[in-house]
Amino acid sequence: MSETTVAIHTARHIADRTWRFLVQRNLIEQDGRSPARPAFYVLPRRERVVLAFDPLALKSVDRLLSRRTLHHLSTALGGRRVVGMNSRGVFLQIAYWPTPSVSLSSRPLDLSQQPSPLHVPIGMTKGGPLWLSLPEMDSVLIGGSRRLGKTRLLHGWVQALLHGGEATLILWDGKGGVEFGRYAERRGVVVDVSDGRQGLERAFTEMSRRADLFRQAGVPSLAEYIRRTGDRLPPLVLILDEVAFLPEEGQGVLVDLVAKGGAFGVYPVLATQRPDAQAVRGLVRANLSTRIAFPVPSVHDSMVILGRPGAEKLPKRKGRLLLVWEGRLVEAQAFRVNLPEAGGARPEVHTLLTERERRLVEAAVEMEGWFKIRQIARAVGESRDWVNKVARRWEAMGYLTPVQVNERGHRLGRRVTEALLQAAGFGGQADLADEAD
Ligand SMILES: Nc1ncnc2c1ncn2[C@@H]1O[C@H](COP(=O)(O)OP(=O)(O)OP(=O)(O)O)[C@@H](O)[C@H]1O
Ligand SMILES: [Mg+2]
Repeated sequence: MSETTVAIHTARHIADRTWRFLVQRNLIEQDGRSPARPAFYVLPRRERVVLAFDPLALKSVDRLLSRRTLHHLSTALGGRRVVGMNSRGVFLQIAYWPTPSVSLSSRPLDLSQQPSPLHVPIGMTKGGPLWLSLPEMDSVLIGGSRRLGKTRLLHGWVQALLHGGEATLILWDGKGGVEFGRYAERRGVVVDVSDGRQGLERAFTEMSRRADLFRQAGVPSLAEYIRRTGDRLPPLVLILDEVAFLPEEGQGVLVDLVAKGGAFGVYPVLATQRPDAQAVRGLVRANLSTRIAFPVPSVHDSMVILGRPGAEKLPKRKGRLLLVWEGRLVEAQAFRVNLPEAGGARPEVHTLLTERERRLVEAAVEMEGWFKIRQIARAVGESRDWVNKVARRWEAMGYLTPVQVNERGHRLGRRVTEALLQAAGFGGQADLADEAD
């Protein structure tokens, strides 16, 4: 849906609701009016709808514009801001979207509150703590600006599902296990440290196996299969963080998984900063039924993630999110989630980089952690173009810092981060990256 379509759709909804409100309150003169002369015109603007009234259609302009009426209308419109005006005409200005509340408290995640083994934590809402079950959400898309809590929310989900103990988890963090590697030893968890294709392949194979089982048993759904056979196929949750970094073939597999997974008890959860067409195929995005957005810079980003505006107005606070689920829009403050120690059996993360890429990291380490395109290209004998491409990808993945600038505005270049050193298998040199801050 385009931004304009959404706006027109919403404007119509607001106009209908307002009309009914005005009739109920007996504010509109209906007798003897020709249908060709509407009581008000609807003018959709960028952030709000303007209703321009025919003053003759109103029983009382004062009563319409009284604080009391405007307040009640705002309530009838789900909390949208309503402003009345009487200058060169009578107008109501009505915001498209309910004003997000700003006073949501931040609470630590308490797993003992989990309503069922498949419920995952969303956060504190106006109505209290909110948890949703994965089968209800079916498939989930999470987006939002950097460092505002996407991955942390997923950690909370993983911890809740492990606590529930019923689901099988396939986890891919797009960073070679730096995030999800810590769960690798837990029962029922597969952490994919490859480029993501292994995890997807596994989920896909399982879905196909289940399709065969259902066919043999002649049942249409998972619930029916369990009822008839008593064979409790465990729900399979596939969590892919940084999904924009999946290779192209992976995206192809995703289309099927996302479109059909739910029917087989396979629930995909995808996260990335900006899930536009370059990051997630349109067909995948269209089929992800539940959407979560952390704050974003523009209304356009909000449209990409949620299919509607709103996320651009969220306070830029870590963990603040908007959820669109079954047509409902809920604002929440995600719970604070602690991470278990990353220690123990760490996955072999160095498989993440190719030998060619690893040489770039070695060269950068020799340059005290500075990733200078020209010097590195020369040092390893690669084209500047290729090194530059890698650098841009690594920056997006958090492997390199953004280009740093000194006080005089001179560009110093990007710096290697700890995540890259770990991915390259240089765990011991992590101090290097800290200097960058
Ligand atoms: N709900 C929360 N409450 C408080 N702090 C949070 C919350 N969520 C995240 N944070 C803090 O913000 C930091 C960044 O969060 P996180 O890594 O989840 O961001 P992200 O959106 O995944 O970023 P990126 O796009 O870079 O991957 C965390 O290390 C944590 O300290
Ligand atoms: Mg992240």
